[in-house]
Amino acid sequence: MSELTRREFLAGTAAAATIPTFAGALALPHAVRAAAHAGSRSTLRVGVIGCGGRGTGAAVQALRGDPGAVLVAMGDVFPERVESCHAAISKAMGDQAPERVRAPEERRFSGFDAYRKVLESGLDVVVLTSYPAFRPAHLRAAVDAGVHVFAEKPLAVDGPGVRSVLESARLAEEKKLGVVVGFCWRFNEGMSATFERVNAGALGRLLNVHTTYHTGTLGRRPREAGWSDLEFQMRNWWHFTWLSGDHVVEQAVHSIDRLMWAMGDEPPVRVNCLGGRAARAGPEHGNVFDHFAAVYEYADGRRTFHTCRQIDRCPSDNTDYLYGEKGWCVVNGWQPTYSIRAHDGREEWAYSGPIGDMYQNEHNALFRSIREGPPLNDCRRGAHSTLAAIMARMSAYTGQTVTWEKALNSQESLAPESLEWGERATPEVAVPGNTRLL
Ligand SMILES: NC(=O)c1ccc[n+]([C@@H]2O[C@H](COP(=O)([O-])OP(=O)(O)OC[C@H]3O[C@@H](n4cnc5c(N)ncnc54)[C@H](O)[C@@H]3O)[C@@H](O)[C@H]2O)c1
Repeated sequence: MSELTRREFLAGTAAAATIPTFAGALALPHAVRAAAHAGSRSTLRVGVIGCGGRGTGAAVQALRGDPGAVLVAMGDVFPERVESCHAAISKAMGDQAPERVRAPEERRFSGFDAYRKVLESGLDVVVLTSYPAFRPAHLRAAVDAGVHVFAEKPLAVDGPGVRSVLESARLAEEKKLGVVVGFCWRFNEGMSATFERVNAGALGRLLNVHTTYHTGTLGRRPREAGWSDLEFQMRNWWHFTWLSGDHVVEQAVHSIDRLMWAMGDEPPVRVNCLGGRAARAGPEHGNVFDHFAAVYEYADGRRTFHTCRQIDRCPSDNTDYLYGEKGWCVVNGWQPTYSIRAHDGREEWAYSGPIGDMYQNEHNALFRSIREGPPLNDCRRGAHSTLAAIMARMSAYTGQTVTWEKALNSQESLAPESLEWGERATPEVAVPGNTRLL
């Protein structure tokens, strides 16, 4: 398995001043030409990088999102993930598989450089669904290659990564490339109808927003004989901050994105976040916390709140509580209820239209925009929601107030010195008051 060097890994997470030096190798004239003329072509060549659960689902949704979409290349660090993903996509596509799943063995790649090989396969669209740590580098390479992108959330795990993503967003705008970020709730009909009304003033000026993501723990993979430290961490990636960003960034970012949405996507000025690790122990749990409680402050003095928890045997909740001058609304992500009420409890509006599959909707929207133009690009907004989550983690880990500017300009890179399949100590669990804010 070849290695991704630190230079390459960091290339995608570097500030605009240090543009990746391997970009030239990825400037694919075919792909650029193809993307520019997608509207007049019948076939859109799709690749997937990160062939896990979400990559499999998203690849199928991409194929269903456009009758001309054909899967031509696949890549993952682990070869068996590529094969199981290929089998699952073929099964899901049923009798369409022979025509729509055309990624033969020679275009199924593994290793840390698999993403480059996928992008060298002459793509129009790529699905980026590896671990969050790699998203900035993969996104930048895709944009350099002139390929439209579907990128899962979160878009980065640290400030340098967000800066890279913002630069990719700018380049994608310049090249008129589509970039749709997997903040899927933005593509849920009931949710977007509700938030559009909120943004248009249906609740009056918002006075309080509290979003929650309280859930149980995620799976763990006990160490197997023959696994190096790096492989062990990669296979338990949710539990290692350098790979996932911690659960406030990896999972709860959905609810922080909805907090941002409620506030008209205005960046908060600063955050104070408490957090810790009360119920996690054992090597598979790496160094992540299991709870966070963030207080965001805005330029006009308002405060919004986000709480998240991954602890078993506690009540679950995934709800947005919005209170405004004129009324309130409680939006439950898991048991869809979309309505707006006056302060006396009267229901003033409720969504009654159809609710489709938001995961499918986001691909339909991307492909439609590629065909009809202009290509949809919500990358900048996705980077901002990602940064809002990262700044909460930075505050919780250090115990300090973290401003938006501080997080955006942070020099803290979570990338390891090297990505060799060898020894790699588990990073220490952060201790507020001791862990430094960088
Ligand atoms: N929008 C949603 O509701 C939603 C749901 C699930 C997951 N996700 C996101 O999707 C992403 C993937 O999550 P998942 O559940 O599919 O995880 P997963 O572990 O099932 O799959 C990730 C795959 O990426 C591969 N990978 C890791 N690093 C790579 C690299 N450098 N190059 C190539 N492949 C690499 C892994 O080997 C793995 O097969 C995460 O960012 C997660 O937050 C979003």
